Amino acid sequence: MEDKIKAIVEQFFSPENIESVKIFGQRAIITLRNVAENQELEDLAKKSLLAIDGVEKVSIVYTADKKVQNLRPQQEKYNVRNVKKIIGVASGKGGVGKSTTSVNLALALSKAGLNVALFDADIYGPSVPTMLGYEGQNLATVDGKSFEPFEACGIQSMSIGTLIDRNQPLIWRGAKACGAIEQLLTETNWHNVDVMVIDMPPGTGDIQITLSQKLDMDGVVIVSTPQDIALIDAIKGVNMFKRVDVPILGIVENMSYYICEHCGTRADIFGHEGAKKTAEKMGETFLGEIPLHLSIRENADNGTPIVASAPQSPYSIAYMDIAEKIISELKLEPNKKASNL
Ligand SMILES: Nc1ncnc2c1ncn2[C@@H]1O[C@H](COP(=O)(O)OP(=O)(O)OP(=O)(O)O)[C@@H](O)[C@H]1O
Ligand SMILES: [Mg+2]
Repeated sequence: MEDKIKAIVEQFFSPENIESVKIFGQRAIITLRNVAENQELEDLAKKSLLAIDGVEKVSIVYTADKKVQNLRPQQEKYNVRNVKKIIGVASGKGGVGKSTTSVNLALALSKAGLNVALFDADIYGPSVPTMLGYEGQNLATVDGKSFEPFEACGIQSMSIGTLIDRNQPLIWRGAKACGAIEQLLTETNWHNVDVMVIDMPPGTGDIQITLSQKLDMDGVVIVSTPQDIALIDAIKGVNMFKRVDVPILGIVENMSYYICEHCGTRADIFGHEGAKKTAEKMGETFLGEIPLHLSIRENADNGTPIVASAPQSPYSIAYMDIAEKIISELKLEPNKKASNL
């Protein structure tokens, strides 16, 4: 039972913040360290724990190396101005291609004729500035108070990487994350954005839950590779977003297969269709598969993602197909003249 409880607690809080999980009779006591108190999150965690057979009471205790409690009262929704719809791109597991998908999906939505913003909320590995080619550029301001979004490949963008110190220990980045993300989201001068894509931090911890709730997200795309290990985490992700009432737009299978450039042979390196089957089993939409291809990596790494640099390639078309499904699901209204690509 302890393992079961631990697994559920880890869906809500980062493992580095969970000091202990103890069971006394039918009471579970969870001790958290260096995490700001968050009533909504606590209630959700308790609800899930009480659903376990044999758990009648749950206590959550906070401890801190220093006083970090109540860093900010997380009551109100974030006020993101001039943005009509917000979708998150998330993954249960790191390194599955969440950022590559976010960037190319944002560009595909723009190519379809929408005004798009891409926000990088991944405090653990902000990579959007590199992928859109604005890494190293300073934050710009017109009035000395608010920020101007970066403009790249025809979309607006901002990254948490511009505010956080990557040398800071992860635990402190975590404690400050939501405040820093809120500040950037609400104090950036977004210009008439039809849809904002958010590259979320990987996993299903407190930051992801808080962001989903405070942002009133219109939907979330879950990215997974086809291996079982990634899919187990993807299922966790789907369940977490469902619990906080964020609609699941569907699952994308990334690094789905590989086609040899020389002989045309196809290899299912990580297996194939795992995400499709998982989506079917969960009753969720399968949004599409993106193959593993060198040009996808190279173009993302050098600041010109494939949808911008080779929009006619089959890989870009795969992203366009996913964008079309999202446009139809969210009833977005592309205006062809708005496309900058
Ligand atoms: N379909 C693909 N084909 C080839 N390379 C890919 C593909 N998708 C992602 N990659 C490469 O795999 C690496 C990891 O991808 P990415 O950074 O998008 O993952 P992530 O899930 O955002 O990772 P993190 O959890 O670290 O933020 C990158 O070098 C990226 O260029
Ligand atoms: Mg990333």
